[in-house]
Amino acid sequence: MSWWRHAVIYQVYVWSFADSDGDGIGDLRGVRSRLPYLRELGVDAIWLNPFYPSPQADNGYDVADYRDVDPRFGVLADADDLIHDAHALGLRIIIDLVPNHTSSEHPWFRAALAAPPGAAVRGRYLFRDGRGRYGDRPPNNWTSRFGGRAWTRAPDGQWYLHLFAPQQPDLDWTDDEVRAEFRDILRYWLDRGVDGFRIDVAHGLAKDPQMPDVSAEPGSAHPHWDLDEVHDVYRDWRRILDGYPGDRVFVGEIWVQSTERLALYLRPDELHTAFNFEFLTAPWEAAALRKAVDDSRRALGPVGAPATWVLSNHDVVRHVTRYGGGETGLRRARAAILLMLALPGSAYLYQGEELGLPEVEDLPDEVRRDPVFQRTGGADPGRDGCRVPLPWSAASASLGFGPGPESWLPQPPAWAALTAERQNGDPTSTLNLYRAALALRRDLNGELTWLSTPGGVLAFRRGSGFLCVINVGDSAVRLPAEARSGALLLTSSARVPGDFLPGATAAWYRC
Ligand code: NOJ
Repeated sequence: MSWWRHAVIYQVYVWSFADSDGDGIGDLRGVRSRLPYLRELGVDAIWLNPFYPSPQADNGYDVADYRDVDPRFGVLADADDLIHDAHALGLRIIIDLVPNHTSSEHPWFRAALAAPPGAAVRGRYLFRDGRGRYGDRPPNNWTSRFGGRAWTRAPDGQWYLHLFAPQQPDLDWTDDEVRAEFRDILRYWLDRGVDGFRIDVAHGLAKDPQMPDVSAEPGSAHPHWDLDEVHDVYRDWRRILDGYPGDRVFVGEIWVQSTERLALYLRPDELHTAFNFEFLTAPWEAAALRKAVDDSRRALGPVGAPATWVLSNHDVVRHVTRYGGGETGLRRARAAILLMLALPGSAYLYQGEELGLPEVEDLPDEVRRDPVFQRTGGADPGRDGCRVPLPWSAASASLGFGPGPESWLPQPPAWAALTAERQNGDPTSTLNLYRAALALRRDLNGELTWLSTPGGVLAFRRGSGFLCVINVGDSAVRLPAEARSGALLLTSSARVPGDFLPGATAAWYRC
C-alpha cells in the first residue's frame, strides 16, 4: 500500500521549530538537528512550511523566488542536506507550494507594476480597471481573507487582486506562462528529491473571468472559491508527479462547502489527499466527531482516496485551547489524539502538539506579525498564538529553541515545564503518550467498525483485534463488554479501578 495512505506527517513551521544560529528565528539547519527527535517520535514524513526567499509579509506565503531558500532559513544546500538526512533516517519530506499568489516582490509582479495597463506581463496577474467614472472604486466587492478589500490600486490607477494581503497578488491561472512556470517549479523540487507538495489554497486558483460580485443569495455560485476549472491544473500536475519514481504525493489545503466537493479534488487523476478540516473544526462532542469521521469516509471512499485527520496547524488556535484550555483542554486533547491516531487513513501532527502546548493568548501587540492582526486592526488576534517557538530544554534562555537569548515570539515562562527534555523522562507526559500511540499505530490495519455505545461515548474496532473507546463526556462511564474482556494497550489519562473509563479519556485495547 502506498505510504501516504496511512502515514503520519509532522508539520514543521520553520520559523518556530529550531534555531541553529541564535537569531531567534528557526532555520533549516535547526530542523536537521532535530530529525532524530522526529524519528524517535515515530512519524513517517515532515511537511515544511514555506522556506523560500520572501519579504515574509505572511511568514513565507508571499514567495519572491520559488527555487531558493530565504537567507533567514539558510541556503539552498541546507534544503538539499535536510532532504538527504531525512531520507537517511527513513523520513520523507513534503514542501509547501504556493500557487495562488506570489509576493509583490516577485520579479513578475515588479515587472507588472512597472509596465503600463494592458501590457502582456500584467496578464500573469489579475489587473482590472476600477468602477465609477474615475475608476476609483474597486472592480468588485471581493474581500481579502485577511480583512479589508481584495483589491489594491496600482500607481497608474488600475487595481490588482489579492485574496490575501496586498503583498500577495493573485496569479491568473488562465495564463500559459503561469501554468508552465509551476510545472517547472514542481520538477525543480522533485529533481531535488522531495517526496511531495502541500498545495496552499488549492481551491482558489480559478476565478470567474467575469469577476462578478460575491452574492449573498443562498445557493449562488462563488466567483473565486472552488470553481470547476481548478481541476485542470491538478490533472496536469498529477501527470508530472506520476512521471517520477518513488510514490510522491500531493496534499491539498482545500476549504470547500462539503466533503463531496472535496472528493472531486481527490479523483484518481488529481490530488492524492487533502486536509480534513471538518474533523479539525468539529467541537468536542461525540456526535460531531463521529459525523466528521463518517462524512469523510463516505465521501472519499468512492474516489479511492484515504481520509486524513488533523487537529491543529499554523492557522488555527491550538486544540488544547479550542477544547477548553487548561487541564480540561489538555485532557481532551490527549483523548482526541488517541481517537485520531486509531482511525484508518493518514494523520497530520502540528509541531508542539506532542508537548501538549496550548495557544499563547496573551502575546503583546507589538510582537504580533500576522497580517490578520494588522488588517483587522487587532479585532482578530491572528495566528501568532499557535506559532510560538518550541520549548526544547533548559539549555538556553529561549528554552533550547536556539542558542540566542530570545525567540521571535516570546515563550510563556510556564513552558519551562513543558520542554521536550522534561517530558522525555516522564512516562505520563504527552510526549510519551504520542510516542506510544505512534508505535502501536504501526500495527493497526483493517476496516473501521463502530460499536453501539451510549451518548457521549464513541467506540470502534479496527480489523478484528483492536478496539478504541473514547469517553467524550466529563464523567466516568462503564466500558463496553468488548473492552472489559480485552487487554488495555494505552490510555490517555490515568486509569480508574474497575470497568470504568474516566471522563475525557480514550483507551486502546487488544481484544
Ligand atoms: C493558507 C496558509 O496555511 C496560511 O498560513 C496563509 O496565510 C494562506 N494560505 C495564504 O497563503
